[in-house]
Amino acid sequence: MYEFYPYFTNDGSVGLYSPQDDDIYHSTYGALTESYEKFIFPANLDNYFKSHNKIKILDICFGIGYNSKAFLNYFFENFDKKISALNSNIDTIHTDNKFNEIFIKGIETDKNLVYLSPFIKTSKKINRKNKINFTNEKITRLLSEKTKIKYNCKNFVNIILLRKIIKTSPEIFDNLEFEAILKNKKYKKYFDANLIELFNFYKSQGNKYTLLGYLNAFLHNIYYRYISTSYKKALKYLKLNDLILELDFRDARESLKDDSNIYNFIFLDAFTPAKCPCLWTIEFFKLLHEHLDDDGLILTYSNSAAIRNAFIKAGFWTGKIYNKENDKFMGTIAAKKLENIKTGLSDYDLGLINTKAGICYRDNEKLSLDNNTILKNHEQEVAESKLISSSKFIKTYRSGK
Ligand SMILES: C[S@@+](CC[C@H](N)C(=O)[O-])C[C@H]1O[C@@H](n2cnc3c(N)ncnc32)[C@H](O)[C@@H]1O
Repeated sequence: MYEFYPYFTNDGSVGLYSPQDDDIYHSTYGALTESYEKFIFPANLDNYFKSHNKIKILDICFGIGYNSKAFLNYFFENFDKKISALNSNIDTIHTDNKFNEIFIKGIETDKNLVYLSPFIKTSKKINRKNKINFTNEKITRLLSEKTKIKYNCKNFVNIILLRKIIKTSPEIFDNLEFEAILKNKKYKKYFDANLIELFNFYKSQGNKYTLLGYLNAFLHNIYYRYISTSYKKALKYLKLNDLILELDFRDARESLKDDSNIYNFIFLDAFTPAKCPCLWTIEFFKLLHEHLDDDGLILTYSNSAAIRNAFIKAGFWTGKIYNKENDKFMGTIAAKKLENIKTGLSDYDLGLINTKAGICYRDNEKLSLDNNTILKNHEQEVAESKLISSSKFIKTYRSGK
């Protein structure tokens, strides 16, 4: 049976837990907050859109889509201001030429998560009596009493996402496993009931299904007024911009081997190397190098010395993500040009790379090793290595010797 373990993270957005991997999909600090702070803000999109009107984003490990959703929300909300300044009546804007071309490719092996993504609520004031539905001490310990909603993801983004998923993956209507989760009362509080109604409406159209057909009557129903406003907004943005969402449900390595796209931004959000080493190897990063624009950026939440070393060995300039608000470094950024790295690695970070902790994960040339083999090979390399341990390095570094 499909296992689904949602809970509310500290910013009110829904996070997931994986019992098989005993790992979290999202930070308990806030699933949506993490997307903004580790992927969207460091991408410096304001600067990018000063000189571009096309963007290609690769969202590796799409999951329930936070990184793509946060991008769409950020982009459309900021873009909307520019449009409003141009002309308040959207119908009079000439749209033969779209303002922007946005291409997002999401890769994710778990189809159900992608299908569920538009329905997941993004911000909620949490009542902590509303405890998690499963036992996990670590998560329970990290959950705070009060919600700290920092960023939002508006309903129109979920509507856009739903329309795009239906378009690229119409088999969503026949996926019983996904629908069973959506309808399960146990998960009701995590899903947006209005979006489910909209989905049911689309589904009810069956073969006659068209995105606009019968919609007006449906939207006129007062109960759906909230959806109606968001729907209009979603349509407006889609009218003004070309948005293509491509989804691939294969292993990211397989998907990328068949891909000829060059991306401006790559979001790498795989489980930690201990769980999913195949997406953190030098060989995989070399493949990413082939798919990154010369001015492009790869962003990831990982601070690991082995990951930073693998980026360097794959030919990238590598730095870290600085969060002004928290005055913290939180993740890694890789680029083909040094000038695109705003915060470089410190002597300490570089020192760590030269310890056992910096030993990289390796795949074979075909990128076909399974996770267990990659882990075993890595363990063996660490055991046989003559490099100093990270703890010894840290001690020496701190003592200033
Ligand atoms: C940390 S979660 C990603 C969270 C996601 N970005 C979100 O917003 O929900 C890691 C995801 O990687 C997926 N995954 C695991 N191995 C994969 C692989 N080899 N290729 C593609 N996706 C994979 C898992 O199913 C899981 O959803």
